[in-house]
Order: sequence, then C-alpha cells, then structure tokens
Amino acid sequence: MSAIRSTFSRTFNKRSLYLLTGATAVVGTAAAYNEYQNNNKRNRPNPKVWGTLAAGTGLHIAECQKKPEDYQKVYNAIATKLRDEDEYDNYIGYGPVLLRLAWHVSGTFEKKDNSGGSFGGTYRFKKEMEDPSNKGLQNGFKFLSSIQEQFPWISHGDLYTLAGVTAIQEMQGPKIPWRAGRVDQTEDLTPDNGRLPDAKGDATYVRNFYKRMNFEDREVVALLGAHSLGKTHYENSGFEGPWGAATNVFSNEYFNNLINEKWEFVKNEAGNMQYNSDKGFMMLPADMALVQDPKYLKIVKEFAKDQDAFFNEFGKAFTKLIENGIEFPKNIKTTVFKTLDEQE
Ligand code: HEM
Repeated sequence: MSAIRSTFSRTFNKRSLYLLTGATAVVGTAAAYNEYQNNNKRNRPNPKVWGTLAAGTGLHIAECQKKPEDYQKVYNAIATKLRDEDEYDNYIGYGPVLLRLAWHVSGTFEKKDNSGGSFGGTYRFKKEMEDPSNKGLQNGFKFLSSIQEQFPWISHGDLYTLAGVTAIQEMQGPKIPWRAGRVDQTEDLTPDNGRLPDAKGDATYVRNFYKRMNFEDREVVALLGAHSLGKTHYENSGFEGPWGAATNVFSNEYFNNLINEKWEFVKNEAGNMQYNSDKGFMMLPADMALVQDPKYLKIVKEFAKDQDAFFNEFGKAFTKLIENGIEFPKNIKTTVFKTLDEQE
C-alpha cells in the first residue's frame, strides 16, 4: 500500500480515485487503483473496471469521503428496518438471513488464488445469486435494496458485510469490528458455483472445507455457532426446522443443544437425512460432525459452558471471514458500531 500513499502525496488531479474512508480518504491514480486491485489479487488489472468506476455512477468515488458516522447511519437504517419488518419468516425476522448472506458472499473465498470472497460484491450477479447453495438469500438481497437506494455510495461488498454485522449485533451478539474498502467488480470475476459447504459433510469434510479459507478448528466451531439463529427450509435446502428455541437471539444455545438433546437420525420429507430432537429442533449432518469429532467436541463443550468464550472467538472469526483475501490500506480505520439500544 505504500505505493498508493506515495502516489497520493505526489499526484492529485481530476482523475484521482478516492480509494476509501475511515477517518482519512486515500487518494490515488488509476495506477494506484490497479495496484489496490492487484493486491487483492484480482490478477487481471482491468481497465474496464477503472473506466466504469471513474466514468460510471461514481459509487466508490463517493464512498471514499465517508466517515464512521456515515456507516453508522447505514447500520441504523438496516437495524431500524430489521425492527420494523419483524414478521418475516414467522416472526424470526430478517436477522438470520442477513447473517447468512454475509457469510455466503464471503465463503466463496479461495485462498489458493485469492479469488471470490466479499471484496467484489459479485453476489449481485445472476450466476452467484442463482447458485443452488444461495437459495433463499434473495430475501436478504431484496431487504437490502431500499438501503442501497438510500445510500447509493456504498459498494455491494461493504453493504452485504455491514448488514451481517448489523444483524449479529442487533440480535444481541458480540461486537464485530468492521472496515470499509470493498470495491464492486465486474461480472466476469464472479466465482463459480459450488464453493459453499455441503450440509451432508462429515468432520473430515468440514475441516478440509474450512482449510480452504484458512480457518482452524476453534474458528470453525465458533462460526457454526451461528446456527442457533434462523432455521432450515425445505424450499431452500431440502432440510427443515430450527436448531434451537431462540431463533433470533444470538447465544450459545446451539452448543448446549448439540450435547444435551436426544437426537434421532431420520429421513425427512425431502428424502434427506437430518437429526431431529423431540423438542422439534434439528441438526444437519455437518452440525453433528462437531460432536462426532473429539477435537471439535472439546471446543463444543467449552462454548456450551462459557458464552463469553464463544462470543469472543466468533467475533474474531467472523471479522476474518468477511475480510478474507482483502488487503486494506493501512490507514483504513476499523469501526465498532453502536447498537440501536445503545443510542437510545
Ligand atoms: C459446514 C458449514 C455450514 C453448512 C453446511 C451450513 C448449511 C446451512 C443450511 C443447509 C442452512 C439452511 C438454509 C435454508 O434452508 O434456508 C443454513 C442456514 C443458516 N446458516 Fe449455515 N451452514 C454452514 C455454516 C454457517 C456459518 C459459518 C454461518 C455464519 C457464520 C451460518 C449461518 C447460517 C444462518 C444464520 C442460517 C439461517 C438462515 C435463515 O434462517 O434463513 N452457517 N446453513
């Protein structure tokens, strides 16, 4: 990033691209922009991208002048809409689907060539939106369309990840430090389908899957704790039911249910095998992998007893997930958003 800063100090003209935000805007030229893109390993410096950004809607040029307060406004708009539209999915609300959207746009990341991930906001393109693994997430996307209209300067990747952070915090989860800086990329950089995990996987599958994104066991167990929220839907995944009772309150219930419920492995109405408990909860085969593997189980037991340890690990792992593969300019400030309750 030093080249960006030195270009900044030397050059300031009309074609300058404001790369970002926090308290300080980083200003650079097309060359600096290409370097920024390259550092984010989109190995094809693409003049079209620069042209679109410079001559197009001004989306990201505008974003660079934004301050933490501006992102707090976006947070507040999402949080208010979450409160107002609480009837979604039988009064679970949009929190879980927004969290899942943030995870799925980030979970396409491939460490090998640094492709995919949240950087380019490519979920907005047909190929990614119609990935069978993303069924149901269109509801989250539609929810966000009015927010995008209200704040047209924010990039798609920033909006999706900020919405996930908002959902977690408004559902009483841990604080998730967040940075702006994702830049919309063109459709040709949309990752192929098939990069998201298979719910039928066992522990070896889950461990290998997350290695692709550079996650260790503790991080994986913490991330899966998000399954205390929301539910599975036949029409989306061929599975049905919630993982627990508190479907819109972030907690460590998932871990307690994993070890304390009596589970029965049954074929569901869609013909898929899932674990059901007599309380009406469910687990996917990939969830149950966390109690079948002794290394995972140890961490599950710890998080079941100690919600603070879970919150702490989840917060770190989620930030890593939504930033995977992105090299932020060093002077980008991290924002910790206030919840609506804290502002009242
Ligand atoms: C091995 C990894 C994972 C697998 C196989 C998996 C699979 C699934 C499946 C099949 C659903 C149901 C979708 C539907 O039918 O609507 C689901 C929902 C969900 N997942 Fe995961 N998931 C994984 C990891 C994660 C992670 C890392 C997070 C977040 C950090 C997450 C958050 C959620 C949430 C919040 C929902 C509920 C969505 C709703 O209620 O609409 N999942 N997941």
